[in-house]
Order: sequence, then C-alpha cells, then structure tokens
Amino acid sequence: MTRSILVTNALPYANGDIHLGHLVGYIQADIWVRYQRMRGNQVHYVCADDTHGTPVMLRAEKEGISPEALIERVHGEHLRDFTGFGVAFDHYHSTHSPENRAYAEDIYTKLKAADLIDIRAIEQYFDPVKEMFLPDRFIKGECPKCGAADQYGDNCEACGAAYAPTELKNPFSAVSGAKPVLKTSEHFFFRLSDERAVAFLRDWTRGNNAAGTRRLQAEAANKMKEWLGDEGENKLSDWDISRDAPYFGFEIPGAPGKYFYVWLDAPIGYLASFRHLAEKRGGIMVEDYTDAARAEATGTEMVHFIGKDILYFHALFWPAMLHFAGYRAPTQLCVNGFLTVDGAKMSKSRGTFITAQSYLAQGLNPEYLRYYFATKSNGTMEDVDLNLDDMIAKVNADLVGKFVNIASRCAGFIVKRFDGKLGNVDPDMAGEFSAALGAGVIAKAFEERDFSRALREIMRLADIANQYVNDHKPWELAKQEGAEAELHTACTTALNLFRDLALYLKPVLPALAAKVEDFLAIEPLVWTEVWQALPQGHVIKPYQHMMTRVERKQIDALLEANRDSLAAPAPAAANDTDHQNRKSAKGAKAAADGGAHSEQRHAAKQQHAAQDKETASTTISIDDFVKVDLRIAKIVNAEHVEGADKLIRLQLDIGETDEAGQPKPRQVFAGIKSAYDPATLVGRMTVMVANLAPRKMKFGMSEGMVLAASDDADKSSGIYILSPDSGAQPGMRVK
Ligand code: 2FM
Ligand code: ZN
Repeated sequence: MTRSILVTNALPYANGDIHLGHLVGYIQADIWVRYQRMRGNQVHYVCADDTHGTPVMLRAEKEGISPEALIERVHGEHLRDFTGFGVAFDHYHSTHSPENRAYAEDIYTKLKAADLIDIRAIEQYFDPVKEMFLPDRFIKGECPKCGAADQYGDNCEACGAAYAPTELKNPFSAVSGAKPVLKTSEHFFFRLSDERAVAFLRDWTRGNNAAGTRRLQAEAANKMKEWLGDEGENKLSDWDISRDAPYFGFEIPGAPGKYFYVWLDAPIGYLASFRHLAEKRGGIMVEDYTDAARAEATGTEMVHFIGKDILYFHALFWPAMLHFAGYRAPTQLCVNGFLTVDGAKMSKSRGTFITAQSYLAQGLNPEYLRYYFATKSNGTMEDVDLNLDDMIAKVNADLVGKFVNIASRCAGFIVKRFDGKLGNVDPDMAGEFSAALGAGVIAKAFEERDFSRALREIMRLADIANQYVNDHKPWELAKQEGAEAELHTACTTALNLFRDLALYLKPVLPALAAKVEDFLAIEPLVWTEVWQALPQGHVIKPYQHMMTRVERKQIDALLEANRDSLAAPAPAAANDTDHQNRKSAKGAKAAADGGAHSEQRHAAKQQHAAQDKETASTTISIDDFVKVDLRIAKIVNAEHVEGADKLIRLQLDIGETDEAGQPKPRQVFAGIKSAYDPATLVGRMTVMVANLAPRKMKFGMSEGMVLAASDDADKSSGIYILSPDSGAQPGMRVK
C-alpha cells in the first residue's frame, strides 16, 4: 500500500538563529521523509517560520525595523541553514501569510460555533510606560524563593523555583524598566476543559499510523495520562488564546484590539504552508489531508516532528482545535529530546551553543552531523548528546574507514584494468550478503525512527564487505600473473556491496549517496532488500574522493567561533514564547494554559538541571581537573552591591599586576551575602577559580569565582567560603 503523508517540523521562531539543538528534530524528520520516499510513499514535507508574538515585535523595534522586515530577513536565514544541512522541505512558509490568516479565522469561527470559546476578564501585569501587557518573560525581579536578582517572571534560573510574575519581589518591566501595574482585560479562551474535549483526547491518544507505529511514543502517552488524569477525571484547563494590542499577529474577527495568541496560529502554519505548496505545485488535493471526513476516506496521514518542550501544545490544544473545527487530527507525533554537547547543556561560554551557520561556515561537512545525530536517535524522547570526540571517531571510523574505503580500495582497478567495466559478482559473497541483510530489519528501524539501530545494521554489513576486500586483497591480485579474472570479480563484488550500503545510508547521507550514484553511473537508488548485482559490462566513472576525515582542530575552531567569553555559563532561553501569567489570573482556571506551558518548559529545564548534576558527579580525568586554575586569593575589599539581594562585590588579589606593576585585584560577585558581613571578609585568604570566562553581570564584570561549601539539600544550613592553611600566599596555585 502506498502511503500519503503530510510531514511537518516544528516552526522555528522568527527572532533567533537555527542552532544544532534545533537540527536534531529537523534531521530526524528529513531522514524519515527521505526513507518514506525511497519506499515509494508520497510525502509532502513542509515547515514555516513562527513569526508572531511579543518577542518578534520587540526585537524588530530594537533593530529599528518593521516586524515584516525582520521576519523576511530571518526567513531567508532559516531556509539557508536548513538547506545547508540537507533538510529539504517541499515548502518553507510563514505564519504571517494570507493562508494562515484564513485557516486561523476559520478554525476560530468553527470553535466558536461549537460553543468552545469563552470570554472572561483577567488581571495581568501591564507596563504603564510602554502601554502594553507583559508576557512573563518580559517581567523581571527578585526570585520570591531565593532572592536572586534579575530573574524572569515565570521561573528562577538560580534556584529553579516556578512562580507567577506577581510573586516576584521588586518587579520591573524588561521592556521599559517601569514598575508594572495590574490591569484587567477581556480574554478569549478555548474551552479545553469541556468534557467533549477530554473524551476526544483520551481516544486520540490511542491510535497508530498506517504502518502500525503508535501515534504517541511511550513517554508521550504517559504524559498524556498524567495531563488527562484517570477516566472520569478532568484535569484540563481552558486555554487563553487572545492577546491585547499592541501585538504582532492576526486580529481576532469581530474583536478589535484583540489578537490571536502566537501559539494559536503557529501550528495552523503547518496547514498554511501545505496549502501554499499545493497551490504552487498543483495536483495535490489539500482537503484529503486537512478535512476530517476526506482524510478518513482517503487514509492520508499527518505526522508532526516536534521537540519535547512543545508536546503539551501538540498533544492537547492542537488535536482538539482541529477536531472540533472539523479538521483532521494528527496521525502521529514524533517527539525528540534536547541536545546536550559533551554531556552538558549547550553553553555560549564554552562555545557549544553552535549555530547552524557557523558550522557550515567552518567548511564542516553537514553529513558528519547528520550521521552522528542519526547514530544517536532511537525514536524515543531521550536527550541526544553530541559528544564531539565520539562524533569525530564515528565519522572517521564508519564513513571514511568502513564505507568510503570499500570503493577507494577497488574502483581504481576497474577503471585502469577493465576500462571501467564491471565483471561478475562472486556468488558466495552475494549469498552471504543477502542472508546477512535479514528481511526488513533496516526498513523497520527506519520506519520506527530508530536510526541508531538501522545504522548499526548497516555498519555490520559494511564490516562484511570490508572483510571480503581484506580476504581477497585486490592490490595483491593486481600484481599477480593470471589473476585478472579474480581481480575483476573481487572489485566488482565489492563495488556492488558498496552500492547496496549507499542505498541504505541514503536517507541519512543524501549528498554522499548522490556522489555514489554519480560515480557508479546509476539511477537514483530506491529501496529494495533483494540483492541484485549491476549488469556485467556496466561502466562506472573514475573514482573521486568522497569524504574526508574530520579533525579535532576543525571542531576546536568551531567551538572558538561560537565562544562568547562574556556570556553567562548557561544561555537564557534562546527563544521566548509568551508565557502567560497563570496565578495572577483571578478566576480560578482562567489562563491556566500559560501556566501549564511554563510548567512544561520548567519541567524540561529541571530535567536539564538534573542532568547537569549527573554530569557533575561522573568521574573526570586528571587532565580535566588541571584545566581548572585554582588560586589562593586575598580579599582586599568586600562591599554590598546596591540592588542585589544575594551578592557581595569582592576584590581579590591573586598576585596579578597591571602594566605599571601595581597590584590589580580581580572583581568577583559572590552570592554569599546571607552568610557574611562584608567587613569581616576583608583581609581573609580564600580560594578562587582564576580561569573562568569573565561574566558580564548587571552590576559589572565578574572575573572569577570564589569557592564555598553549602548543603544543596538544605540551603538554610549556610554558606562557607574556603580558607587555606596559614602561610599560603596570594597567587599560589591550588592542585
Ligand atoms: O517552540 C518553538 O520554537 C515554537 N516556535 C514552535 C512552534 S511549532 C508549531 F506549533 F508551530
Ligand atoms: Zn530563586
């Protein structure tokens, strides 16, 4: 049966760069799409920029351009980046498009007709200077739990607490700096708590795609159970889908000054992009994919690839919106985890917050990354770790050492000794390889997005092919009298195996496969698991180098290019969504959506924090340890910091001098105010990390860190800075 599938990737925000964290999900989707097409299935693969909302509006304002100009520029950048990594959408659209407006209005109107839209007044923080309501991420203040300064309105990056913006101490608008005031306005809600929605979602959770793969991965199905509660229970809250002007988005029909919340029209962008593609291309029956009855009748599928931080939107709001507006609900969600680099969260100060563009600009082959991500993708929601040394080792060993090596060891003889003509295939090897192939094992792994398993199988086959070449040694046969026929068969057999491996690698490595097709002078490879040799006498082209090894120094240069020495160790959320204030909404369940959303991202963040801890407790080598430059420091000055609850400003002498030979102490902000009176610190010796990247803080540069002990589990037990034994002098190395 031929399948007809609409495949989408999450729409990236139009106010930020594509980085390697994004690429995990895009590469996974692209591999799956290419695999489906090789099987003869019909796939429409679309994406778009997610253009609306406050962050885009403010970013444009900051750049002194219109939002339209900003989104147009970013559209070009995003498309360039995806194309550079071989992610080949049939169409890349924009949510700020006529198609999207039409779909958004239609869906909204139908939900209203189905009695699923409510209007309620809610109270929210308002910036009196800027005259706008403030999303949580644009309100800052001191954390209500730990007192850390400069924290966002939804959660604290210092202690991880989640709260409502109204709980922040000394709140200020991150837009104008003004003190926000509470103000009431009317909001539109999608009544997700309606029992019809709950019943529908319970049912939707179960279900398969046309190949029998579950609609939701096990972890996602569990999340759904948690969100929906037990049978008979209703834990869902209504979803606030409107925002007040000024807002960059679509005005709600019949409601002047009210706009659709960015998250309402973002997923609708999938449909808008698809419609635009259909109009551009012709011959696609859009309604077969979008209309509930037509989709049911024709058996089309709609598959969304998303990151786990946006599961909530795609598994609750989105299917319900579609269903109750008469549209088809998604067939399947393919959810990927976050990216870590060398076991830790991506970091600007370490240079591991790597943009797609910087990777390509270094001249690194995008297929190194496609291959590596594929080896780490197993179809679950687990996080993917980009271990840079492991990537180098895998690419060099598997792709250059095993795969390309087969051709490079055999092709020359065919061209030089046999006019480029292939001969007979060794029947024993053909039999062995066919048997090793196993029926449908690789295909099943691709279908289930367990690319890791598919590639392990393919590399096992590559080992068999290499063993064959090692056993037959064409380079020796070439020197022997009368071994001509044997040489011809050995090289022909190896090149046929090579072609087969290229076929299975093609969804992952389309550019490399294209080179193989060109070199072997064959039609584009399509899926087959029946091993068939190229005909005798088939002429191939001279072999040209197909892939070079990746060197550590190239990766180091990439890290260097991405290193921001002024950045805080962990980047702030790269892209803000509007996090709506949950608890400040008077009227119980009102606006609980934004809270759920924040909670979701918060849970994801906490998971990251837990991971960071895990990483911290694993062993390190002595080489890792000596990278930390610990020095004896004399506290030459200590003082309170105006406006900071937790910090003390320290001047630390570690024996450094300026050009004139005068002592030049380092400035360090230490979060020890709760435990020390600055006056008691002056003159004390302590220990500092001297080679930490300088960090720009609100109050000035922090040029290191002092070491202090505390009980993670019991903050109330105090903070204790370290002291060396007497005799230690400023600047002495601690090791
Ligand atoms: O989280 C994000 O990056 C959103 N821009 C994803 C939107 S996906 C879809 F709903 F449009
Ligand atoms: Zn805190």
